[in-house]
Amino acid sequence: SQPAVEEILDRLCATVPDYPKPGIVFKDLTPAFADAEGLRAIVDAIVAPFRGEFDLVAGIEARGFLLASAAAYATGTGVLTVRKAGKLPRETFTEEYALEYGTAALEVHTTDIPQGARVLVLDDVLATGGTTGAAVRLVDRCGGTVVGIGVVLELAALGGRDALAGQRVHSLQRLG
Ligand code: PRP
Repeated sequence: SQPAVEEILDRLCATVPDYPKPGIVFKDLTPAFADAEGLRAIVDAIVAPFRGEFDLVAGIEARGFLLASAAAYATGTGVLTVRKAGKLPRETFTEEYALEYGTAALEVHTTDIPQGARVLVLDDVLATGGTTGAAVRLVDRCGGTVVGIGVVLELAALGGRDALAGQRVHSLQRLG
């Protein structure tokens, strides 16, 4: 039988103390993405609750791109490219979000979402919810409808689920 995705994540997610700075414990999913069984299990599990309910998968730069591309291919849908500010060549919508110090912004092309498209938003980690919240606002501004948010890891203590109130949030693993 297939190992459960939680078991795969326990085995293949690397824990890096004091990265990117002292006191932060970084969860590195690159070994899970590099493992054939791991990648398949993650992608299958992240889309499972939403199958048949979306036409487009929004991937957030950078690690969300990996998930969104695989999920779109696996489900016969397309990818919406949600980029860090300043990377897209045509007219964009921009949404800022708070960082620990200062702000950052995400952008999408104004015309990349077919009107009325049902969009699944994917990212690797949900922490404060600032990043995925900005992606949700971008989809709304483009005329799409967010059907849900899928993440691999949810850092529950940082309150992202509450910050995204009103959205269906599906995480494969919740940590402290
Ligand atoms: C990380 C992660 C999520 C975001 C989650 O990205 O990949 O996108 O943080 O945090 P939040 O819920 O508090 O917004 P990061 O900002 O480190 O950018 P990167 O993907 O370019 O490394």
